[in-house]
Amino acid sequence: MPYEYLLTSEHGEGPLKTGLIQLNRPKQMNALNDQVMDELGAALLAFDEDENIGCIVLTGTGKAFAAGADIAAMKDYDFMHACKTNFISRNWETMRQVRKPVIAAVAGYALGGGSEVAMMADFIIAAETAKFGQPEITVGIVPGAGGTQRLPRAVGKAKAMDMVLTGRMMDAAEAERAGLVSRVVAADQLLPEALAAADTICGLGMPSVMLAKECVNRAFESPLSDGLAYERRMFHALFGTEDQREGMDAFLTKRTPQFKHR
Ligand code: HXC
Repeated sequence: MPYEYLLTSEHGEGPLKTGLIQLNRPKQMNALNDQVMDELGAALLAFDEDENIGCIVLTGTGKAFAAGADIAAMKDYDFMHACKTNFISRNWETMRQVRKPVIAAVAGYALGGGSEVAMMADFIIAAETAKFGQPEITVGIVPGAGGTQRLPRAVGKAKAMDMVLTGRMMDAAEAERAGLVSRVVAADQLLPEALAAADTICGLGMPSVMLAKECVNRAFESPLSDGLAYERRMFHALFGTEDQREGMDAFLTKRTPQFKHR
């Protein structure tokens, strides 16, 4: 499907491919307006529904992953408009519906809503050039797409408060130390590294991949005992899949597993 502000493509050699989504509004630092978010939601759901896709990588362009919600688009909103339209819920929460893994590959600025979108992904791989921040306070608002909730879960209260209250940016090295990103790589290795990670996931059994994602997400939604019970049931359920038999048989007969993904 053609998009105005996104480029999409498919990568990988195996039966399951990686769907790559590139935000492409570089003159505005990929500022996220309604159209960008509508297109992003549509692209995410299209890849999620595509049986040939096993993993999704989301990245930016040039100097930015995304420098936040589009300030020009929202500067004249008033409380009634924001409240009545439930500003952001309609098209900013689509990524939560995606059941396949989503990797954010971040180079340059990931600020405000851009940082929030990156944190909605399952994990973040950063280029050395990445800069994360929640500068909303500097334009008179607060984060509105999860920044005050996901950032403390990722980096703890001290750093989250520091970033949300001062609006300062965190570089890639600090983000890795703090646990916000899983890996930091040279800028020219960002996409190859993210696509290789995605390709690894594409080579695994899709039922276990999707349930693994659900189980880890459950850790952030429930008390430990509920999360453990949920994990146990998912663990039991996977013994009902062909991929479990294939994976274990391949290990024991010293061959590469050929997962059927169903
Ligand atoms: C609209 C933006 C933008 C944004 C950059 N631009 N960020 N337009 N919304 N969030 C535009 C600039 O206006 C400028 O347009 C062009 O992109 C290039 O930006 P410059 O500022 O000239 O570039 P530079 O000096 O390199 O600085 C880069 C930057 C800075 C550090 C990323 O642009 C910046 O601080 N941006 C705003 C970051 C921010 O406050 N984000 C949070 C937004 S609130 P022209 O036309 O002049 O070339 C938010 C709330 C989310 O995200 C809540 C959920 C919805």
